[in-house]
Amino acid sequence: MAALSKSTDVDWRLAPYDLAGSRAHARVLQRAGLLSVDELARMIGALTELSAEVAAGSFTPVEADEDVHEALERGLLEKLGELGGKLRAGRSRNDQVATDLRLYLRHNVRTLVHEIAALEKALIGLALRYRDVAAPGMTHLQHAQPVLIAHQLLAHAHAFSRDVGRLFDWDKRAAVSPLGSGALAGSSLALDPDAVAIELGFDRAADNSIDAVSDRDFAAEFCFVAALLGVHLSRLGEEVVLWTSTEFGWARLDDAWATGSSIMPQKKNPDIAELARGKAGRFIGNLTGLLAMLKGLPLAYDRDLQEDKEPVFDSIEQLLLLLPAVTGMIATLTLQPDVMEASAPQGFALATDVAEWLVSSGVPFRSAHEISGAMVAYCEEAGLELDELDDEQLAGIDERLTPEVRSVLHVDGALAARRARGGTAPERVAEQLSSLAEQARRH
Ligand code: ARG
Repeated sequence: MAALSKSTDVDWRLAPYDLAGSRAHARVLQRAGLLSVDELARMIGALTELSAEVAAGSFTPVEADEDVHEALERGLLEKLGELGGKLRAGRSRNDQVATDLRLYLRHNVRTLVHEIAALEKALIGLALRYRDVAAPGMTHLQHAQPVLIAHQLLAHAHAFSRDVGRLFDWDKRAAVSPLGSGALAGSSLALDPDAVAIELGFDRAADNSIDAVSDRDFAAEFCFVAALLGVHLSRLGEEVVLWTSTEFGWARLDDAWATGSSIMPQKKNPDIAELARGKAGRFIGNLTGLLAMLKGLPLAYDRDLQEDKEPVFDSIEQLLLLLPAVTGMIATLTLQPDVMEASAPQGFALATDVAEWLVSSGVPFRSAHEISGAMVAYCEEAGLELDELDDEQLAGIDERLTPEVRSVLHVDGALAARRARGGTAPERVAEQLSSLAEQARRH
C-alpha cells in the first residue's frame, strides 16, 4: 500500500509551488486571527529556509513521506515543532495539489512560449535568408505548383504562432485558484481565498469548491495543446527528413545538429527531426492517458487524480528538451536553392497556370483543364517539358493554345501571379515575414 501510494518521485517537482502556496496560506491565517503576527513571522521564516534547502537539494523526501505535501509538512514541523501544525487549518491536500499543479504549469508554460517563439524566429530567419527561392509545392508528396520555399517555411511558423495563441488562451482559464476549497466544501474558518489567489498570481479564486478540487480541465487542455504542438513539430521534422535525403537534396544539416553512424562513415542523420516526429506519439499518449483516467470519476476528489501529474510533467519536460534542439537545427539549416529551383517547374507544375491562362481568355475551366491535361499527356509521351513545345505542337493539341501561352510557363510568373492575400507571390510572403516577426517578438 505504501509503495503504491507514494508519489514523491514524481511530485517533488511541485515543492517550490507548494511552499509558495503555504506562505500565502499562512498570511490569510494570520489575517483571519488564527496566527499571531509573531507566529506568522516564524512560519514565513521557516518556509523561506525550507525553500532554500529544497532549492539547494539539502532537504529531500524520505521513505516515510507519501507525497510532496507530507514531506514539506515534515520539514516545517522539524523546524517549528507544534506551531508547524497550524498551517493545516482550512486547507486540504486536495485543494493544495490542484493549486500546485496549476502554478507549476502556468510557470512552465511561460518558458514553453519563449521556446516556441525562438523556433518561430528561426523559421522566419531561414525564410528571410532564402526569400527569393522557388521550390516545388507539393500535395500528396507529388509536384503540384511552384511556391516560394519561404512561403512553406512560414506555413510552419503560422502553426507555431497559433500554438502560442492557444497557450495564452489556456492561461486565462487556468488562472483560477482552488485554494480555500479545502477537501471539497470550502472552509468554515474565515479565510480569504481571493487574497491567496492574488498573492499567487491567479486572477481570482474558484467559484465552486467541488469543481475546484476535481477540475483537471487545465491539465487536459494543456496536454492537448502540447500534443498539437508535438504534431506540428513532427510535421516540420518529417519535412527536414525528406529535404535532407539524397533523393530530395534540398537541404543540408549543420554537422553540430546531426549525428553520424557508428559504422557508416559517410552518414549524417537527422536525429533531431526524427525525435521530433517520434515524440509526437508520446505527447498524444499523454493526452489520451489523462483523459482516460479522468473519464467516469465521480465528484469530488478521487485518488485516481494523483495520476494526472506524469502526463503533464512529461509533456512539459520533453517539449522543453525538444524545442531548443529543433530551433538549433532549423537556424543552422542550409538550403540548396539550385536544386529546389531546378525542380520547381518539373512534374508539369505549371499545368494549372496554362489552364488559368485559357480561362482568362474566355475558355470554361472544365475545357481549360482538359486542354492543359492534353498538353501534359503530349509532353509525357514526347519526353518534353511544357515550355519546350513549338507553336505547331501547341496548335496541334488545341487551337486555343496560341504561342502567348508561353508567357505563363515560367516559375517566376506563376509565383508573381498568386498575389491575392494568402498567395505565394513575393510581396505577400514579404508581408507575412514582417507580421510573423512582429508576433514572434511579442511572444
Ligand atoms: N498526492 C495526492 C495527489 O496527487 C495529494 C492529495 C491526496 N489527498 C488525499 N485525500 N489522499 O492527488
